[in-house]
Amino acid sequence: MSGAQAGSSITTLGQYLASKSLMAGSGQTPLDALLLDVATACKRVADLVRHGELAGVLGAAGSENVQGEDQKKLDIIANDVFIDSLERSGLLAGVASEEMDAHHPIPDEAPRGDLLLAMDPLDGSSNIDVNGSTGTIFSIMRRSGAGATRDEHFLQPGDSQVCAGYCLYSSATMLVLTTGDGVDGFTLDNSIGEFVLSHPKMQIPAATSEYSINAAYQRHWFNPVARYVEECVAGKEGPRQRDFNMRWAGSMVGDVHRILCRGGVFMYPMDRKLEAAGNSGKLRLLYEANPMAMLVEQAGGAASTGTERIMALTPNALHQRVPVLMGSTEEVQLLVEYHAQA
Ligand code: AHG
Ligand code: MN
Ligand code: MN
Repeated sequence: MSGAQAGSSITTLGQYLASKSLMAGSGQTPLDALLLDVATACKRVADLVRHGELAGVLGAAGSENVQGEDQKKLDIIANDVFIDSLERSGLLAGVASEEMDAHHPIPDEAPRGDLLLAMDPLDGSSNIDVNGSTGTIFSIMRRSGAGATRDEHFLQPGDSQVCAGYCLYSSATMLVLTTGDGVDGFTLDNSIGEFVLSHPKMQIPAATSEYSINAAYQRHWFNPVARYVEECVAGKEGPRQRDFNMRWAGSMVGDVHRILCRGGVFMYPMDRKLEAAGNSGKLRLLYEANPMAMLVEQAGGAASTGTERIMALTPNALHQRVPVLMGSTEEVQLLVEYHAQA
């Protein structure tokens, strides 16, 4: 049975990209072609996620990534699927990933393009064994200059991204992306194997009564975030004079997707425990914070570390971590105010 309603008109990802480029006066651009390859990789990962235990992809890999985090089998498989789908496209100059210490160079015998892709191949991977939502996050930049690609080519501020997106593997598989001209969401129609435009021009409402944070770390929080959450919890009787709701998916893709759909604020702040461990945050700037910040800003929201706009930061390393506060502008502004007052 078809996923689409009989006789209704659809726009596939390919048609959407082609019409955008035609309107801009060009034919298919390298970015269009790369996004179609990214979509293919997402479909391959979605198929594995959908089959779960039947595909033999659940469970731990028994290894650690460069950041000392336990890897799931699917972290590694998803990384391999993306590399395999992209490295010979002739569009890329290199791929950086959460699961690889240094960037992956394009094989010598393959043609090389001038785009760089940084990715979190499987975000929220601790959800995979419990059939919870996971995702892939990606950020695309241009590289300049001649010679071999180096890690340093990736160390560009988020404002240099030419495209950012994620694929959400949940009850439906969705690809959500921006090329700097708003945010559009596509749902995978498994019956025809195509991503179909389903959520055009996604917008985050400026006001919200929903926040998202791992409250198990409350005792480690610094004052600005502790104060913000305390005031939300106080509800109608507190200074905010309204009740709030809390949601935490355990996957940034799941949480940010909810915020793109109905508003809210997502927080993974700096805390005393991270500081004591010598970390500058939990989430990684290049392939988690920056692409999500671009999507959130393009949908009318805001993204800050508490003291700086995320996309204005110049990264100092591929796996640099940053505090993340993003979503509905009124709440992010309030958090920034509380940081300024502290
Ligand atoms: P990843 O699975 O790619 O390492 O990312 C997990 C991230 C993010 O998706 C999520 O919001 C957060 O880590 C959850 O962290 P806690 O387990 O500390 O709540
Ligand atoms: Mn992640
Ligand atoms: Mn990951």
